[in-house]
Amino acid sequence: MQIRTARTDDAETIAAAEAETQRTPGLLVAWPGEIPVEEYRSKIAKLATDGRYIVAEENGALVGHAFLDPMPMHANAHVFRLTIVAHPSHPGHGTGTALLRDLLDWAQHDPRVGKVELKVRAGNLRAQKLYRRMGFVEEARFRQRVRRFDGAFEDDLGMAWFPVR
Ligand SMILES: CC(C)(COP(=O)(O)OP(=O)(O)OC[C@H]1O[C@@H](n2cnc3c(N)ncnc32)[C@H](O)[C@@H]1OP(=O)(O)O)[C@@H](O)C(=O)NCCC(=O)NCCS
Repeated sequence: MQIRTARTDDAETIAAAEAETQRTPGLLVAWPGEIPVEEYRSKIAKLATDGRYIVAEENGALVGHAFLDPMPMHANAHVFRLTIVAHPSHPGHGTGTALLRDLLDWAQHDPRVGKVELKVRAGNLRAQKLYRRMGFVEEARFRQRVRRFDGAFEDDLGMAWFPVR
């Protein structure tokens, strides 16, 4: 598996993989197909300078993507929010680990990063296991913060990771 920086022409594959993932409630926040492809394209372009957007490739196919996106105000621009998806069309072990390892290594060495933050559904134990193993700690529980497209409400957990310098 290889990790490389995302290109804007990856946007359609990434959008399709997220739309497929969104069909399983309790994983990603967006409802199926809610985010237009153009938003993926502009996020990739923005993070080429402002953060980091990467993809995992296996035999020429995209098998996952992940990014760190800084918060918009000066006061919290040191806080980078994490999104990570191992593509459901290529199930296998280790994609999430490889993506997150790359991003945290980048975060450790980029002086703009003071904190990495994420929110994860309380029921998404697979993602939580990955985050804990990579050094994230739970900071908060946001009760009934997410209304899933199947109608159920779910709690969100706030987790964070700090560079050690
Ligand atoms: C979360 C996600 C990125 C993890 O990627 P991955 O490629 O599955 O991760 P890895 O294989 O590197 O590691 C996952 C760990 O969870 C474990 N795991 C697998 N299924 C599990 C389950 N049902 N419950 C708990 N842990 C599970 C794996 O065994 C592995 O742990 P180990 O290395 O100690 O054995 C991936 O599952 C995914 O994209 N899910 C859908 C989108 C999503 O939930 N994104 C995060 C939103 S906050």
